[in-house]
Amino acid sequence: MKEKFEILFSPFTIKSLVLKNRLVMPPMGTSFSTSFGGVTPRFIRYHCERAAGGVGINLVEFAFVEAWGRLSSHMPAIYDDSHIPGLKSLVEAVHQAGGKIGIQIGHAGRRARSSINGGRRPWAPSPIPELGGEIPYEMNQSQIDYLQECFNKAAQRAKKAGFDAVELHAAHGYLIHQFLSPLSNNRSDRYGGSLENRSRFALETLARIREGVGDEFPIFCRISGDEFVEGGSSLAEAKGFAKLLEEGGADVIDVSAGVLESAQKTVPPMAVEHGCNVGLTEEIKRHTNLPVICVGRIKTLEEAELILQKKSADLIAMGRALIADPELPRKTRAGGNVRPCIGCNQGCIDRLYNGLAITCLVNARAGREFQIPSLGKAPVSKKIAVIGGGPAGLEFARVASERGHKVTLYEKERELGGRFRIASLPPKRGEINEFVQYLIRSIRSLGVKTEMGVSVKPEDLVKGEDFDEVVVAAGGVPIPFPMAETPSNVSFAEDVLQKKAPLGAKIVVIGGGMVGCETAEWIAESGRQVTLLEQLPEIAGDMEARTRKLMLSRLDSNRVEILCNGVVERVEKDRVIYRQGGLRFEIGGVDHIVLALGYKANDFNPQIPSAKIHRIGDCLRPRKAIEAVHEGFLLGLEI
Ligand SMILES: Cc1cc2nc3c(=O)[nH]c(=O)nc-3n(C[C@H](O)[C@H](O)[C@H](O)COP(=O)(O)O)c2cc1C
Repeated sequence: MKEKFEILFSPFTIKSLVLKNRLVMPPMGTSFSTSFGGVTPRFIRYHCERAAGGVGINLVEFAFVEAWGRLSSHMPAIYDDSHIPGLKSLVEAVHQAGGKIGIQIGHAGRRARSSINGGRRPWAPSPIPELGGEIPYEMNQSQIDYLQECFNKAAQRAKKAGFDAVELHAAHGYLIHQFLSPLSNNRSDRYGGSLENRSRFALETLARIREGVGDEFPIFCRISGDEFVEGGSSLAEAKGFAKLLEEGGADVIDVSAGVLESAQKTVPPMAVEHGCNVGLTEEIKRHTNLPVICVGRIKTLEEAELILQKKSADLIAMGRALIADPELPRKTRAGGNVRPCIGCNQGCIDRLYNGLAITCLVNARAGREFQIPSLGKAPVSKKIAVIGGGPAGLEFARVASERGHKVTLYEKERELGGRFRIASLPPKRGEINEFVQYLIRSIRSLGVKTEMGVSVKPEDLVKGEDFDEVVVAAGGVPIPFPMAETPSNVSFAEDVLQKKAPLGAKIVVIGGGMVGCETAEWIAESGRQVTLLEQLPEIAGDMEARTRKLMLSRLDSNRVEILCNGVVERVEKDRVIYRQGGLRFEIGGVDHIVLALGYKANDFNPQIPSAKIHRIGDCLRPRKAIEAVHEGFLLGLEI
């Protein structure tokens, strides 16, 4: 049979390295290492699954080359020979799983934190702190020499550990990029000023590494194709830098984007288009003879193949898509049901930046592969009723039925997906529905019985059917505004999004959390005048940082009026009275009032003596979808 992904699944040679295909898993921090940076069984198993899933090469996340060069704990270390055996065990396991593996080496520079680095003040090209960071120490020549040697030794250790390649981290605002960017480098010596001078730290480091690892060992260089910050290193500079890296002995240019201040460019959220860096990669490819890697919201093999067909890149990196489904390459080729990354960033980068190990909203097994090698079969097949077809109920039904239980799912609406389905309705949130559809496909193929449009009463569950266990996943219900009589022009956000409420021209949305913001945007897009009233000092505090940043700018461009620190006192038919800074104000002439005040648990509580009752998701306590999905998964595994 003709290979559908002809270019993608053709081999690719980089010096001594022959890749079986052109698919790369890019470096992604996991926090799976020990607090001393040691490799753990969890880390190994996580990488092995992705290698076995069919990716051409795994690039291990940012490993720090010097003891003080990390930005958070639990990053992998490569600054001492004592790290070689652990890294070697990772390499051997990935090779055994049929994959190739490289490692990214880096130094955080000014992004290192004295709090986790024994009180040592960070080093950087210039004493310019990053946003919210410490004032770094300006490196002198001997410190420059010292760190370049650290990079060199680290690359040699990578080679000794058996890695197939090393990647120099020259992107994202870490040390090498700090030298490159005029925003973090104002030196007047040979390392500052012109592009050539600002590139010198990288090029000298590269030269040392090349000398250390020899001519045949592949060296990838990751760059930010554009810093996307005014006054920073632009695409024009990145093209020049790529050329200099080529002349300096690099073998592959890995084109990423952004720095801390433009983090939405580095790990682009759902609102960003697929293949967002294709343009940057094409431009850089035109300026170098080296193979280039394209990364950024490439979610399917079809997209990857298209980028290769158009010769926009030579290799394709898929990051979060492989956290979401490690078997994506193999499954896609076999026509399987791929679990899609939805770009929510909640389980991966958001957790990492909050000091936690990564997981994944759609894949609760991510990071638990070592503890849960497979779902396995339940010792006894039980008859189970699930009340509620939202993310918790659907994920539970998927896992439990895969383990051999007979599951019947009851849903009061005519459609599955619960609040997650509604969450996919606002602008730029449609991808959420891809996961809902994945769950629906899964339960259908596993033979889960679904009863739709059924508002279950406890007695219904004992009639006829003899369930061993009942799982209540009935979700949450929106919190009303406390008032004796609700005017007819007051609606819940979820009803507005489902077009169940007629809106006039002037709307007030009360509650500026994620739901309120998304609803305000959705309404404003239809040309209506929207005021968003929030009692806290800021809106969208419950949103993932990158997603939030883009949301705030869209609210601004849709001219949504935002009133913070505003506590609503009274809601009347055509006005909202609120207090702000101790004063009373009112918004008059209001046509419709939308409530987004959060959710309370649905208290549906069947008492069935013959069955064991469980509660999962928002009906236990309203939280985010990630908790609902993970609770569904874990109960499905346990039952
Ligand atoms: C949890 C997480 C950690 C990351 N850590 C790194 C890292 O250590 N080094 C790096 O160069 N990029 C890192 N990235 C960026 C990814 O390599 C990749 O460029 C980005 O996720 C966009 O690709 P994707 O849309 O396919 O996920 C990280 C991304 C995520 C989601």
